[in-house]
Amino acid sequence: MANQDKINELIEKRAKARMGGGEKRIEAQHAKGKFTARERIEMLLDEGSFEEFDMFVTHRCNNFGLENTKFLGDGVVTGHGTIDGRVVYVFSQDFTVFGGSLSETFAQKICKVMDMAMKVGAPVIGINDSGGARIQEGVTSLAGYAEIFQRNIEASGVIPQISAIFGPCAGGAVYSPALTDFILMSENSSYMFVTGPKVVKTVTGEDITTEDLGGAKVHASKSGVSHFLSENEEEGIMIIRKLLSYLPQNNLEEPPVTVSSDPIDRLDEGLNVIIPESSNQPYDVKDVIYSLVDSQEFLEVHRNYAKNIVVGFAKFNGVPTGIIANQPNYLAGVLDIEASRKAARFVRFCDAFNIQILTLVDVPGFLPGSAQEYGGIITHGAKLMFAYGEATVPKITVTLRKSYGGAHDVMSCKQLRGDLNYAWPTAEIAVMGAAGAIEVLEGRRLSEITDPEERAKFVQEKEEEYKNKFANPYQAAAYGYIDDVIEPMNTRFRIVRGFESLSTKKIKNPPKKHSNIPL
Ligand code: HXC
Repeated sequence: MANQDKINELIEKRAKARMGGGEKRIEAQHAKGKFTARERIEMLLDEGSFEEFDMFVTHRCNNFGLENTKFLGDGVVTGHGTIDGRVVYVFSQDFTVFGGSLSETFAQKICKVMDMAMKVGAPVIGINDSGGARIQEGVTSLAGYAEIFQRNIEASGVIPQISAIFGPCAGGAVYSPALTDFILMSENSSYMFVTGPKVVKTVTGEDITTEDLGGAKVHASKSGVSHFLSENEEEGIMIIRKLLSYLPQNNLEEPPVTVSSDPIDRLDEGLNVIIPESSNQPYDVKDVIYSLVDSQEFLEVHRNYAKNIVVGFAKFNGVPTGIIANQPNYLAGVLDIEASRKAARFVRFCDAFNIQILTLVDVPGFLPGSAQEYGGIITHGAKLMFAYGEATVPKITVTLRKSYGGAHDVMSCKQLRGDLNYAWPTAEIAVMGAAGAIEVLEGRRLSEITDPEERAKFVQEKEEEYKNKFANPYQAAAYGYIDDVIEPMNTRFRIVRGFESLSTKKIKNPPKKHSNIPL
């Protein structure tokens, strides 16, 4: 074969590989409102930056006549490219080839990019759209999954791992995304479940649709499995690009600092009046967040799950920062099982990747009741406490209003290694709220007062006395548990200056194999 013929052969093979499962299947993919594996990579990466690996890989399976059906690339597109000029590794499952199902060679391709990403210290982004284990391959496909799981586990805390779910993701296949740092699901086209509706019906008799069992909305709001929900694939890809702008390439690097045009000493008088006069009235803590951060940009994580706590990424003077804030607008900002789990995982992510943490506190306490106790609020609340206490990144806490009881301790208090703890003059830092305290302290007197009017008057007086003594930041400040009481409008400046002063912070936990966080 002449050299030019050899080159032509290469060009032909490449063109064939780019067609995946062929024109008809690509059309079918588009008809479902979905992009192809390659189109997704094109959208995700900087233009022209994609370098593909293993385009000529084919499967080695000889069962069920599969030896006669081979597709170049074998159903997954892998390689590396850049996002905003920074290297990332990607794999994108191609539903047009055997329904994106995972074979031995398919798994090897994914493992190769994961190994490369670990070698160079760059994030991995996986786009999932697959019918699961390739049925004709049997156990080699199961082994392939396990090879990927093992790499997910080893890469955890070393390089950021992000999963986009843009199609089916079922059976054991869900566990690779579950082992990664963030899952994004696109509405109407993606679902995740361990067992599908048919098996559910057979085993439990429950009748449920695919969407209701494991659709994007369900996992974004009910299970919390997914961290981000997008309306469509394009929006999903923009969210992933944005997310990466807050993250370092790996755990040995600092997150990327950018130049901010937002003055660090910008005052916001609106913050001086944001806390309602009555301490039982709600307000939206996101208004506080948007006011404090650079250019009002905040990427919320888990927006629809456990709304009583808000977590997400923003920047202070260009420095990526993880924010955790109780949300008085939802369940009064109480800490419950879901909120504790959500925040704990976020704190640990930030700490693993050197992202400084800002905590905004307005918490009435832990949610009481048997449902919470039976669900293990003790263990789950301990997770959040553990995460804060273990974190060595710079931590600033600002108490806006309530900070009661165990929840006060959990929410990055001084003794859980809060570096700088500020409070607004509206802060109420105490063992419990006035009503609860008077019930306990004056229980005997109250049982003796039979006249309702007299009783109400007594309670009001006692609560007033309690509030005057405890519903303020000055008792905590008198002990040095609060470093300063600050004027709300000045908070952005104090946070920026605080983080600047902490940027050289270096502390280490004692050497150990690993900690034993209450799982
Ligand atoms: C081989 C598969 C496949 C699979 C789909 N295909 N899933 N081939 N192994 N797992 C093929 C189909 O035969 C078909 O080929 C093409 O992909 C498209 O599939 P359709 O069924 O036509 O598409 P659609 O109607 O959109 O349905 C998609 C689907 C369905 C819901 C994903 O295909 C399905 O239920 N697949 C099986 C899912 C499953 O049970 N997987 C195993 C899970 S257990 P042609 O040639 O007709 O285009 C598992 C274990 C993992 O994954 C363990 C890890 C520890």
